Amino acid sequence: MNKQIVLTGIKPSGTPHVGNYFGSLKPAIEASGKGTFNEFFFIADYHALTTVKDKDQMAFLVKDIACTWLACGLDPKKSVIYRQSDVPEVFELATILGNVTPKGLMNRAHAYKAAVAANSEAGREGDHGVNMGLYTYPILMAADILLFDTNFVPVGQDQKQHIEIAADIGAAINAIYGKVLTIPKAQIDEATAVVPGLDGRKMSKSYGNIIPLFAPPQELLKSVKSIKTDSSAVGDPKPLDSLVFVLYKLFATADQTRAMEEKFKKGIGWGEAKAELFDVMNFKLSPMRDRYNYLMANYLEVENILRDGATRARTAARQTIARVRAAIGVD
Ligand code: ADP
Ligand code: TRP
Repeated sequence: MNKQIVLTGIKPSGTPHVGNYFGSLKPAIEASGKGTFNEFFFIADYHALTTVKDKDQMAFLVKDIACTWLACGLDPKKSVIYRQSDVPEVFELATILGNVTPKGLMNRAHAYKAAVAANSEAGREGDHGVNMGLYTYPILMAADILLFDTNFVPVGQDQKQHIEIAADIGAAINAIYGKVLTIPKAQIDEATAVVPGLDGRKMSKSYGNIIPLFAPPQELLKSVKSIKTDSSAVGDPKPLDSLVFVLYKLFATADQTRAMEEKFKKGIGWGEAKAELFDVMNFKLSPMRDRYNYLMANYLEVENILRDGATRARTAARQTIARVRAAIGVD
């Protein structure tokens, strides 16, 4: 039986954070350890163009995400890691897909709807500040996914609609031209679908509420200390839905979590709970942080990996594009 394909991307639009790790990096890399999948991981640099307009910042953030993938344990011998912009077949497929994508589907996409709602709240014209990169973002993302005959896309909850749109666009192609494309599914782990940020909303680069994945220990500690807590005293039971416990659960072992749950019920002080949270986070993150720092300082190694990844990705991509071209009558 053919191996199933797992693919996911991260756009280089800000510092990678704990939400990215649990929603996307970790599940994607764990899938690659099982040997039953072929995996494609990429840096969605052309997706970041909607917001990142400074060339030095773009170059830095691409480097940052590439090193992050590798530092989190991605093995480039087992899976393919590449930059989206190195695979021009993505953009060819996006152009083709645009022709079967109803405009109304784009009107309903969350990011566009949110931009329109924010404009209306501010009393501005609905499309103010909306560029076509933002408007057609889901089509480019569909191309990323459909190009590799992807079966599963590990993501956080916020990307669910994008994967459904990709499936709809793939189905539209198949309805017209026969079975040309594989229809993908989102892979969302309930426990980590939405990792909350420092202010309780979804942790997101766009909200300024992140805990950076590879901040130096002192900065990580500062982030942990800044988590807002209630005013209950030592000895008062602490709420298990507090961000302190939610994050603790993500980083700790099952035994540690059980023990901490008891301490919460018995009224551990917030200062002590935060110190324990920092310890489990730092324990898990420090080997990855060391690897990240090494790769950032030795980026030539990473560039070589990306170059090799682009070659391998294009080999797969060319086959799909040839199939699609034949199907639409332009081969
Ligand atoms: P951001 O919202 O910070 O810009 P991205 O859109 O670049 O993050 O997301 C990259 C990946 O990380 C996506 O698969 C997304 O679903 C996942 N992700 C982002 N934030 C979270 C979160 N708070 N919880 C779970 N997954 C998340
Ligand atoms: N839109 C995703 C995000 O903001 C990034 C992304 C681009 C992606 N293309 C993708 C994720 C394809 C999964 C599959 O996080």
